[in-house]
Parts: sequence; C-alpha cells; structure tokens
Amino acid sequence: MSVPLDFLGELQRTHTCGQLRASDAGRRALIMGWVHRRRDLGGVIFIHVRDRDGVTQAVFHNDVAADVHNKAELVRSEYVVALEGEVALRTPETINAALPTGEVEIVVDKIWILNESRTPPFPMEENVDVSEDARLKYRYVDLRRPRMQRNIILRSQITFAVREVLTGLGFLEIETPFMTRSTPEGARDYLVPSRVQPGNFYALPQSPQIFKQLLMISGFDKYFQIVRCFRDEDLRADRQPEFTQIDLEMSFPQQEHIFAVIEPLMKKVCAVAGFEVTTPFPRMSHAEAMRGYGIDKPDRRIPPMYPVEDLLPALTANDLPLVAIHVPKVGALSRKERDDLKAYGQERGLRVFDDPKRLDRDYPEAMAHIRARVGASDDDLLMLAAWAGEPKGHRPEETVLQACGQFRLHAAQKYNDRHKLLDPQRFEFLWVTDFPMFEWDAEDNRWMAAHHPFTSVLDEDLEKLESDPARCRAKSYDLVLNGVELGSGSIRIHRRDVQSKVFAALGFSEDEAKRRFGFLLEALEYGAPPHGGVALGLDRIVMILAGETSIRDVIPFPKTARGTDLMCDAPSPVPERNLRELGIALRKP
Ligand code: AMO
Repeated sequence: MSVPLDFLGELQRTHTCGQLRASDAGRRALIMGWVHRRRDLGGVIFIHVRDRDGVTQAVFHNDVAADVHNKAELVRSEYVVALEGEVALRTPETINAALPTGEVEIVVDKIWILNESRTPPFPMEENVDVSEDARLKYRYVDLRRPRMQRNIILRSQITFAVREVLTGLGFLEIETPFMTRSTPEGARDYLVPSRVQPGNFYALPQSPQIFKQLLMISGFDKYFQIVRCFRDEDLRADRQPEFTQIDLEMSFPQQEHIFAVIEPLMKKVCAVAGFEVTTPFPRMSHAEAMRGYGIDKPDRRIPPMYPVEDLLPALTANDLPLVAIHVPKVGALSRKERDDLKAYGQERGLRVFDDPKRLDRDYPEAMAHIRARVGASDDDLLMLAAWAGEPKGHRPEETVLQACGQFRLHAAQKYNDRHKLLDPQRFEFLWVTDFPMFEWDAEDNRWMAAHHPFTSVLDEDLEKLESDPARCRAKSYDLVLNGVELGSGSIRIHRRDVQSKVFAALGFSEDEAKRRFGFLLEALEYGAPPHGGVALGLDRIVMILAGETSIRDVIPFPKTARGTDLMCDAPSPVPERNLRELGIALRKP
C-alpha cells in the first residue's frame, strides 16, 4: 500500500452521505465515507461514497485540477475519503430513483484520501451470497453491508423504544451483577475462576431472576433491565451463549398487569419497525395449545389440528388422541409426497392415515363429520394421525399431541410455496398461560421446574404439589410470535413455606436448597411482597422484525454454532502462568 494519505486536520462534514436532495443544488458540500463504487468513464470518474446514512454520487469531470483527478484515480473500494464540491442536479436520464440522494451529485473540486483499504474479503452489495464463516471472521466488514447496517440500527431503535415505554410506565432501570452465583434456568453455567480465592468460581448469570426478586423484596417495585444473559447450552438459529433480555419485575401484580405492560411495549416496538399490531393479544392455556397445535409455542398463521377420537374411535387405542392434520391449499399430493410425509410421522411414533379417499370410503359418516369440524376443502391436505405404540411418558396424551404438532408444522412448512401462509410480515402474537409446573427429566429420573423453581403454582393446584405433580399447573406464561417463544415469565413464590415445598417436589433436600439458594430463602422471610415478571428475548424480537431467520444476523458480534468467535478466536488457551495464579490444573479431555 503506498497511496499518500491526508490528515483529517480541521476538516468537517457538512452533510452525511444520505442527506443531499434536489433542494441543495448550488450549495457546497463536504462529505466523508467509504468508497462504495468507483467508475472511470473515459476520464470522467464517478465515486459512490457510503456512510451509515446512505450513498451519494460524486463526479470528477475532465476539467478538474490535475492533482484532484490523479487522486481520484488512486482510490479503490472501501478507501476512506473526504470529498468537497458543488451539489448539482443530475440530468433526468441519470437520476437514480433507488437512492434518496439520487437526484443530485457532488461535482468534486477537492479530495482527501484519509485511509486506504485492502481489497475487502467480499463485496458490499446486498445480494451477494457470502459464507457465514467469512462474514464472521471479517465481521467489521460484514457489518458495513446495508442489510447488517439496517439490522443493527433497528436494534438500537427498538432498544431505545423499550427504555422510553418502560420508563414512561414508571419502571426503574437497575443493574444486577454479572459475577454471581448460579441461577438455574435449565442450562449450564459459564464459570469465572476467582484468583484471590483459588478453587472458587463465580457463575455468569443465566438471567437476573433471583436479583430482580430481591429488588422486589427491597421495595423497588417496577424494575427493568436490558441485560446480557449467559447460558452454556446447545446453540441453534435462535440461541446464542450470550444474548439479551428485556427483563422486568413488578410487585403486587396479577398476570393481567404484566400483559398490560408487555402489550403496549410490543405494539410500540413493532411500530418502530414499521408494523402495526392490534392488542390485546389472544390468550390460550397450555392445555389448549397442546390440543390445538401440539406445541407450547403455536404458529397461528397455520390452522390448528383437531383431535377427533370422539368421531372415529375405531382408529385409536388406549384413550389416546386421534388427530386430524389439516393444511389448506396444498393441492393434490403424489404417492411419493404422501409416503414422505407418512415416513416423517412414523419416525415420530405416529400411525399416519395418509389417504383421505380411502378413509372416506371406509368411514364415510365419520369422515363427513371430521371434514365439517376441520373445515377442510377439497384441495387441502387432510390426514389422520394416531399413536402407533404403547402409551409413553408421564403425560402420554401430550406425547402423542407433540408428535402430531411436529407433523403438522413439517407438512405446513414443506408446502409453504403453495399456500404461502407462513408470511414473515404477518404477526400472530399469543399468550400461552397455565403451563404445567413440572416436566419429567428422563435422564435424571426426576421432576424439573418447567419454568424455573421460583414460579408459583395455581392456587387451586397447591394441594397437588406432593400428590400429583404431573397435573400441577403454574402461574406462568409465554409470549409467542409466529411459533417463536419471545418471552417467558411467571408470578413468583413469595412465601418461604411454599418455596420449600416446591424445592422438595423438585427433589432438593432442605440442606441442598439452603446451600444453593439460602440467601433467597432467607430474604423471603423479611417481608417479601407478592411479585411477578417476565423476560423477553431482545435478539429474537429484532430477528423477526428485521425479517431474519437467525439471531446471529441481529447481533453485532455473535458466536458460531460451536460457540466460537471466529474474529478474535475465542475461546482460546491461556498461558500456564494464568492458570497457576487461578489454582487451576487442566485435565486431559
Ligand atoms: P427464559 O429462560 O424463558 O426465562 O428466557 C426468557 C427469554 O429469553 C430468550 N432466550 C434466549 N435468546 C437467545 N439465546 C438464548 N440462549 C436464549 N435463552 C433464552 C427467549 C426467552 O423467551 N428469568 C426468566 C424470566 C422470568 O421468569 O421473568 C427467564 O430467563 O426469548
């Protein structure tokens, strides 16, 4: 690299690269930015200069001073330049309607080259396919691309709107520690070794759950925080090891009070992204969600499934559901397509009745009723599914419904190009309420908290805590959007005796409960008010509103699916000396 570089000195911009309009014609302008594109048309040089605000065309005519023209010949893509000249209207045939600045150009008479650039690893253009590894390794370049600029700017606007709405509703923004003790949210902790206390570790918080409860006990009714959380778990498109929650908590709330905060919040957040949504959001109990969708995060853009065992008992056994799977406007399926769907269902333990004509012939009356219940027309996909084997799990009906739910979603996704129901710009919000209190952990052979162990049980189910944990329901709720869990919350346990009972139901001895959560149990003895709250996943919200399918595309510096930061190469080994200071010796894997 050997281009002579200029100093910034006292130079100042008069405009950003997105500001100039026809009404500015005749004025002088000085812009700074990156060379987006450079074209040399027989001595007339065009440079498109880009900053986060937009792109402006600059032109160097043949009659410009020789030193200016020479410099313009030196610049290449992604050089950083400052250009000054007079704003001129473009001739009608050269107007670029795609650019807000497209009616004008700067006729340059001064140029400064502020920095050069190596040839970028990939082009800045919007529609160029680049491997994700390359994008993450050169993330600072990737982030310059228009799509990522839009996403990160939208994220900032949404974050600001959240602060505005919650502060307006009387919430206080309060920070909680990152170096703390384990907070159980169902994942592994990231641990931070202590140097001054060798052998002891902090845990990075999986959420501020316990601290926000303590803040309620301290009297800080209406807390919120936009906060990083850390979870060592298997990564997916909507999961990162560090992610951001919009976390809040209130004292003395009913569930409806929490909804009455989140609904206007989401309405505003959607409006920031240019979408209008109507409130209140529909509500559905977990049991209804399971029967209608076979999942606790229903995608309501696709019609529900219908249990029909009452209409056709002949096809079911063991009192388990028989489910009509219905996807509109799929049209005729070939033998092979039906076989593929059937195989998908069979892999999940289902017996699939894939031939509606045959069902019509064998069970004409029942099928007429089923079609009426489902509201299926002739070019819709309609199949029946039942459980193929013995009842399975602690809630066997749920096992069947879950398999049917996966089948329904798979069939709907597979034929989306025909029915086009999964429109990313259609927003179907939903509250799912009354989750089961416990889930059976087959690996550890014990009940686990379905939400977290600080969640209240429904008043009428308190009696069942010991006798029938499988049927115990919780005061917990999820906010769901288009099949994605956006947020999750609950009314908490505020009584010491109830918290002990729940720990007992989870199989913690009194000693273990005291060892792990003694400070919380003690705090509950000092006048804990009834309280509750919710946490929304900021990354997921921005992902959906930006029209993306992975949260990696709305996080400036995300990790790969293996938890690696390809740019700064983390995690990485540390020098032996650091380990020694921490009192740590490595074992062979
Ligand atoms: P929960 O564990 O359900 O609840 O988390 C709340 C929301 O955080 C988001 N989320 C994630 N986003 C990206 N990557 C991850 N690994 C990840 N894990 C969770 C989801 C989820 O809905 N303390 C409770 C909340 C409460 O009870 O108030 C909690 O953390 O959008």
